[in-house]
Amino acid sequence: MNNTVENRGSTPIIPEGLIRALRSARHVCVLTGAGISAESGVPTFREAQSGLWEKYNPLDLATPEAFLQDPALIWRWYRWRRELVAAAMPNPGHIALAKLTSLVPRLTLVTQNVDGLHQRAGSEDVIEFHGNLFADRCFTEGCVVDCDSDAEVPVCPTCGCNVRPGVVWFGEAIPEMALNQSFAAAADCDVFLSIGTSSLVFPAAGLAEIASETDATVAEINPNTTGMAAGFDYAIAGNSGTVLPELVACIES
Ligand code: OAD
Repeated sequence: MNNTVENRGSTPIIPEGLIRALRSARHVCVLTGAGISAESGVPTFREAQSGLWEKYNPLDLATPEAFLQDPALIWRWYRWRRELVAAAMPNPGHIALAKLTSLVPRLTLVTQNVDGLHQRAGSEDVIEFHGNLFADRCFTEGCVVDCDSDAEVPVCPTCGCNVRPGVVWFGEAIPEMALNQSFAAAADCDVFLSIGTSSLVFPAAGLAEIASETDATVAEINPNTTGMAAGFDYAIAGNSGTVLPELVACIES
């Protein structure tokens, strides 16, 4: 059943059924995407005009092949993104999610974002499905390294090979632990929230399907209802920075 939610003025109404499901949930699983950080000024990937992949070709910047061809270019791009994120602040959506954790017995937060804003808002044990912008890894051995990130192309202190940003690139596998924990949480939860993601990139987009199959209540929060939402219980058309604080206030009241 799809239950797209009406708007009261510019503020979306939180459906009663979702509030009830959250109040009685044993385990809530949340998947976030770039949209939750949009109100912090971090660009999304696929939105017309502002999306990063509308301006840049991901194959030139986010693949192991591109790194091998021109590591200095890739590092310039990731340094720019690091600076942008370092100057950004968590927004009310991130903060509301951190608060939601204390209102339910168990919450698993899975993010596709590499910006660390959930952690800066106070969320703990965040599962970073696509890695982290600030974690450097040896390109050859894959291990996390502590190196001089200011060098044009940082070098692994152990083996001397080039160091790469610790994000998952196109064609690469999701870190095994993140994958296993996320799929287990999606299969176990009673409520699944899909927030600020276009639901176009798999395997992350498959988590909501798993939750649906196990009869969890599934809801999307996104100003632009996605193609996946037709199979969800609720689609709340609104910005996460507005909807999430309102949702938390409803659970608390
Ligand atoms: P996308 O750019 O594909 O989608 C962002 C979604 O956020 C869109 O559906 C927007 O409508 C929605 N959105 C925009 N503003 C919002 C707001 N204020 N509140 C809520 N939603 C809002 O980003 P992702 O789905 O995260 O992968 O993309 C998935 C992956 O593709 C990323 O993790 C990245 C990218 O390639 C890697 O880098 C490996």
